[in-house]
This record gives sequence, C-alpha cells and structure tokens, in this order.
Amino acid sequence: MKRLNVILGLLVMSAATYATGTKGDDQKITYSMPEQVKVVFENKCFGCHNDEGRSDKAKEGLNFSTLKQLDKFKKIASWNEARKEVEGAKMPPAKLVEKHPEAALTQEESELLVEWIKTETSSLLKQ
Ligand code: HEC
Repeated sequence: MKRLNVILGLLVMSAATYATGTKGDDQKITYSMPEQVKVVFENKCFGCHNDEGRSDKAKEGLNFSTLKQLDKFKKIASWNEARKEVEGAKMPPAKLVEKHPEAALTQEESELLVEWIKTETSSLLKQ
C-alpha cells in the first residue's frame, strides 16, 4: 500500500510538472503591462514574436522574450515600431489573416494596443 502511494505521488508530481512545464515564463509575456493589453499581445502577436518563434525577421522586429531587458530607448523604438504596424493594420500578417480571419486584431483591440503603447512610450521617456 505504501509503495502504491509512492507511485501515485510520483504520477501526480510528473503530471503537475507537465502541466506547468508547457506554460513556463517563455510562454508568456513578462513585460509589465495591464492584463487586458497582455492578453491581446499574447493571443495575437506573441506566437511569432518571442524567442521560440520561427521567423528571425519577426524576432528582429519585435521580441517579447527580450523586450524588458532592453534599455529605455530601444524599448521606445520597439513599441513605436509595434504601434506603426498595428495602426497600419500590417500585423498580424495578411497571409495569416487571409487563412484565419479570427487572427486579426478587432478594432477595439487595435485601439487598446495603440492607446497603451502611447502611454507606455511617454512614461518611458520621462524615466
Ligand atoms: C504569423 C506570425 C506573426 C504574427 C501573429 C505577428 N507577426 Fe509581426 N512579424 C511577423 C514577421 C514574419 C515579420 C517580419 C517580416 C515582415 O515585416 O513582414 C514581422 C514583423 C513585425 C514587426 C517589425 C516590422 C518591421 O518593419 O521591421 C513588428 C513591429 C511586428 N511584427 C509587430 C507585430 C504585432 C504588434 C503583432 C500583433 C498584433 C504581430 N506582429 C503579429 C510575423 C508575425
């Protein structure tokens, strides 16, 4: 009986590691921002713009995995770049949106991101 408990315990432990292992820090945006903004970036941008992303060009343009380590001017430059893409409806890429219309930003999401980016860049400037 004791032995069975040990085995069960191990099973539960490995199941727990598996569950959390798939959602480690590298699966999430660690840059500090309001939850509702983060959710949009995570759902609509993060998949391509993090260290695990397949496109090097995408990561060069914007990388959520390393963003918070940049100095403030590089952060501002990255956010301004992101704002330009969102305002121009250039991101997510048209190729993706054609196949998966739900991948596009809604009007509300796009405004939310742009407004937040403006606030963030001006507060970075004052630091
Ligand atoms: C399907 C993958 C994918 C998604 C989703 C995606 N991007 Fe991109 N992104 C790319 C690729 C590939 C590039 C580089 C090539 C290009 O500019 O088209 C890029 C480039 C960029 C650049 C750099 C542009 C430049 O001119 O250097 C920025 C900024 C950017 N994306 C922001 C975003 C934002 C913000 C979102 C979410 C709203 C997003 N991306 C969603 C793939 C993606």
